[in-house]
Parts: sequence; structure tokens; C-alpha cells
Amino acid sequence: MLGNFEYVNPTKLYFGNKSLDYLQKELLKYGKNIVLIYGGGSIKKNGIYDQVLEILKACDKNVVEDAGVMPNPTSDKLIEGAKIAKAHKADLLLAVGGGSVCDYAKAVSVSAYCDDDPWEKYFIRMENIDNPVIPVGCVLTMVGTGSEMNGGSVITNRRVNRKIGRVFKEDVFPKFSILNPEYTLTLPKYQMVAGFFDIMSHILEQYFSGEDDNTSDYVMEGLLRSLIHSARIAVKKPQDYEARSNIMWIATWALNTFVAKGKKTDWMVHMLGQSIGAYTDATHGMTLSAVSLPYYYHILAAGLPKFKRYAVNVWNVDPNGRTDEETAKEGLERMRAYMEEIGVVMHARELGLTEDMIEGVADGTFILKGGYKVLSRDEVVDILKASL
Ligand code: NZQ
Ligand code: ZN
Repeated sequence: MLGNFEYVNPTKLYFGNKSLDYLQKELLKYGKNIVLIYGGGSIKKNGIYDQVLEILKACDKNVVEDAGVMPNPTSDKLIEGAKIAKAHKADLLLAVGGGSVCDYAKAVSVSAYCDDDPWEKYFIRMENIDNPVIPVGCVLTMVGTGSEMNGGSVITNRRVNRKIGRVFKEDVFPKFSILNPEYTLTLPKYQMVAGFFDIMSHILEQYFSGEDDNTSDYVMEGLLRSLIHSARIAVKKPQDYEARSNIMWIATWALNTFVAKGKKTDWMVHMLGQSIGAYTDATHGMTLSAVSLPYYYHILAAGLPKFKRYAVNVWNVDPNGRTDEETAKEGLERMRAYMEEIGVVMHARELGLTEDMIEGVADGTFILKGGYKVLSRDEVVDILKASL
């Protein structure tokens, strides 16, 4: 049965190769003081920085920059950003970059006026927000996380090797996001492909849960088929606008809260991947690709009907003449072949994970209960070992 739910998504999207034209209109809704947040400099190389700055100047904004947001943004950087935003009395945080920049901007938005340590309050104790929140706007340059239209914010504390995601409510979602597929064309292939797998994992983590007859599962099968199709094209021809724009749109729908409504979700692949990321600082999507098949094989028997459905509806496996288990396994094997074809990392050791880290990574893995099997700590260790 489809469960009961509320649904609202407050983020306004502008999509397409002319979408930056709408930035000015959005900026005029906010006061003068803007913090321009970006990463390690890709936006300076590809010209997006100059385009955005020109619009900020045309709007006569008082801009300070908070640059150097790293992939897997840290709690130390968050403290620095919160101070900048508070000192500047920011009316808007404008995030220009990938999921890391966008996630970080959301974390700064709730932390600037937080009197406590924001890592402890919002990421460890998961308390409700009781201080003013600064609005966030986003110009997206990397596809994958869905951060452009959700309340997710993932922060890493390097001192304790913990990477923790918090899902904030609608008041922290970006007020607007500008999605120009052309901005993603300068991504190195490794990042592009990691983003493709991140999208796939977001969909699968919501799909592999529950047995109900649920409309979301049909939507997700469609998204997966479109993603697989377009990613194959993009890997061969990275400059293919049609494929890249389709993928950008799939990424947003994969994690803008819509497909999760009324159904259970799993998220164990992300819990495992995030904990690997906390130890290795590896690229997010690649941590997911390394653990996915070991995890799915581990839970296959517990979720057999859904794995069979996945094989048939997503991978076109013919169930005739096969047992359900054979059909399900053939689906996972076709997924493996696809992963190898697009070039994701299949072994966590390539990300720097070593045998001696496994106990610590297992300790940092939150065990969730929404999937087909609630893992024990020993099973987490087994899956991590199998992912090496
Ligand atoms: O820092 P710069 O120089 O900009 O370079 C970035 C970075 O090195 C580069 N890049 C981005 N756009 C580019 C570009 N290079 C050339 N051309 C462009 N157009 O790509 C690198 C990776 O960027 P990053 O933002 O780190 O990648 P991604 O978008 O995958 O974000 C990863 C972070 O998002 C979190 C992850 O855990 C990780 O911390 N997630 C956030 C989620 C959410 N908000 O809901 C959910 C996800 O599951 C994920 O956990
Ligand atoms: Zn992800």
C-alpha cells in the first residue's frame, strides 16, 4: 500500500543552456550581501565564475567569496564558512559548483547563526534548527547528488573519520537552482562517471525496499532505463548535449524526495560508501560503485522478488527457463557489465581502502533498517571485505 505523506518541494528550477539568464531575476529578490561559494577553481577555468560575477555586478551586489570548498567538505571548512557568512551579514549564499559546494552552502546556512558547534548540533545530535537560516541559491556544475533540489548536506569530520549526511527540511532546500547541462561538459571523465553511478545508486536505494505495488517503482524503472541509455551515449561522446541534459534531469528526480514518497527506502550502500569516504576521501560515486554488487548479492535472497523484477524490467532479462534466482543474478551480472562499460571503480582497494581500515569503516557505518535485510556488524565487515 502506498503510505500516507506530505509532499512539497520549494526549489525553483531553471533548466537548459539559457538558464543562467534567470539568475539576475532571482538575485533581485534578496538583499545586497551575497557570499559566493565555490570549490577548487574549476569554475574559473571554464568561465562560469566570470559569467556569474558579471551578473552579480549588474545587480550591484556586495559580494564576498568563500572559495576552496573541497570534495567531501569538512567540518573545519564549515566553521570557516559560517564565520564568513555571519560577518558579511549574508542575505543569500550563492553556491556555484557540484554537490559538495551545494551541500556545504546548506550547512553554512544553518550554522552561521548557530551558537553551538554545528557539527555536534546538526550532524551528531541531529537537533532541529532553532537559529536563523540564510537562503541558498545554486548554479550546478556537476551532476549526481541531487543536492540542487533537496535538503541533503553531507559533512566530513577528518579528526574522527566520520562522514555524516543530514537531510534538512524544506527551509534549507535551495530557493532556486540553475541547471545548465553545458556547464557539466568540462567535467573530467572520472567525475562524470562517478556522478552517473551516484544517480543510479540513489534510484536503487529507494527501489530495493518494500514489496508493495508502488507507482514510484515504475517511475524509478523508467529513470533507470533512461539513465543507462544516456550514460552509455555520454561515455562514448561526452559532449553529447542530449544525453548530458537527460542525465542532469534524471539526477534531480532521483533525489528530490519525489520517488521516496509513500514507500520504504534502503540507503545501506550510501552508509557503506560514506564510511569508506570518511577514511579515504574517495570520490563519492566511486565508493558506491565499489560496494554495490557485494551488498546486492548479500541481500539478494531476502529481496528476491524485487531483484527478479529489476532484472526483467530494467535489464530485459527473459525469465522463461530460469529460476527466480537465476533471473535475479543475471540482472546483477548485466549491471556489472554496464558498470565496467562506463568505467566505474569496482574494487574499494583502488580507492585506498585497506584491510586494516575495515574495522574502523564498519564502526562508522550506520546500520539502517529499511532494506530487505538488517545487517549485523559482522555482515558489514563481510561486505566491506568483499568490496576490496
Ligand atoms: O572543486 P572544483 O574545482 O569545482 O572541482 C570539482 C571537484 O573536484 C569538480 N567539478 C565540478 N564541476 C566541474 C568540475 N570540474 C570541471 N568542470 C565542472 N563543471 O568535480 C569534483 C567533484 O565535485 P563534487 O562537488 O565533490 O562532486 P559531487 O557533485 O559528486 O558531490 C559530492 C558530495 O555530495 C555528497 C557526497 O557525499 C559528497 O560529499 N552527497 C550529497 C547528497 C545530497 N545533498 O543529497 C547526496 C549524495 O548521495 C551525496 O552523499
Ligand atoms: Zn549519493
